[in-house]
Amino acid sequence: MSRSTDFVPFSKPDIGPAEEAAALRVLRSGWLTTAGEARAFEAEFAEAVGKPHALAVSSATAGLHLALEAVGVGPGDLVAMSPYTFAATAEVVRYLGAHPLFVDIEEDGYNIDPERLETAIASVGEQSAAGRRGESERPPGPPRGPVRAVVPVHVAGRPCDMPRIGEIAARAGAAVVSDAAHTLLTADGTPVGAEGDAAAFSFYATKPITTGEGGMVVTDRADLAERMRVMRLHGIDRDVWDRYTSQQAGWAYAVTEAGFKYNMPDLAAAIGRVQLEKAGEMQARRREIAERYRAGLGDLEWLTMPCDHPLHCYHLFILQLDLERLSIDRDGLITEMREAGIGTSVHFIPLHVMPYYRRLYGYTEHSFPVSWNRFARAVSLPIYSGLTDEQVDRVIHALRAVGERHSRIAP
Ligand SMILES: Cc1ncc(COP(=O)(O)O)c(C=O)c1O
Repeated sequence: MSRSTDFVPFSKPDIGPAEEAAALRVLRSGWLTTAGEARAFEAEFAEAVGKPHALAVSSATAGLHLALEAVGVGPGDLVAMSPYTFAATAEVVRYLGAHPLFVDIEEDGYNIDPERLETAIASVGEQSAAGRRGESERPPGPPRGPVRAVVPVHVAGRPCDMPRIGEIAARAGAAVVSDAAHTLLTADGTPVGAEGDAAAFSFYATKPITTGEGGMVVTDRADLAERMRVMRLHGIDRDVWDRYTSQQAGWAYAVTEAGFKYNMPDLAAAIGRVQLEKAGEMQARRREIAERYRAGLGDLEWLTMPCDHPLHCYHLFILQLDLERLSIDRDGLITEMREAGIGTSVHFIPLHVMPYYRRLYGYTEHSFPVSWNRFARAVSLPIYSGLTDEQVDRVIHALRAVGERHSRIAP
């Protein structure tokens, strides 16, 4: 089948009349940038995830940057994370002059492996001591420094082992900043990914809720919230709304730091408020789709279903292909799926193989073998609340048909 109007896209935001009405309300209000809608969104989001402080920002990338800056990450520090993530998680560490300390992932999932995290943090200490004594050649990786933070990424929406990671981080004196770009709430409203000193959520177009572009950073800690509030808007001590509408010295402001421009405009926030109301419903549909995929594909011996978790948000549904049992490679499978009218994707190309991190730290593909091997076999199926049962069944049918043509297993 060639690409046609009934093509099943890999991703599609769930935007309806309520989001349109909210956007129109702001467009007609005479105030487009950060004000009452953003404040209301922050309050509603804070309540939804059970945190006292929520700051609306322009992206999760901005939220991660603010959070890491606020916990004190600076030049020469290390921030532990897995390389199995999007560019944003590590680049913000580099913005601060610090270095990502990559740690490989668990064998059966895509999240950072707590055992390996513990070992990596311990070995940084050992290598620093040996390095000071001049005993060892420097292995691939960042220059040694204190591990200031750990950034667990809840890949695909499956939560990391936060109690364990929290313990390891606390022992190392490191903060925990959660990359919650793929999580939000379960269908019954349980928050997912909000643990740690701070957590950054994404409202990018494909995410559990969307504002087009946007994010929210949450924390229990008043000191971090205060720092992030100032740094979010140019290091200024008053926000835009107060500056222009307050009765007292409305024109006055003080730049106290070289901050950033990371505020969320009301236009985005108004859409986000509607999306947040729908979050449970949209999440319930994602889980139904995941279950339909499991029922329709679970018997195939040439693929492995994603590891489940009661709190899995199913932002992504990542299969592992058993390539030895197929006479087609992953790209061939993706092409055949596209020809069958189905969009798929691959998450993620591990960061350690990206030219920038190879150049900087001397990594090869095999520096993080679990990440490398799981990436080589990964393919993501469409999963979003607007996907109908009929479309899910077409995905299942198309994938089974690829297997029938290319599986090396006797039927
Ligand atoms: C794991 C992860 N972290 C962070 C981000 C960055 O999110 P944003 O686009 O809101 O900055 C993404 C975006 O796709 C992501 O997948």
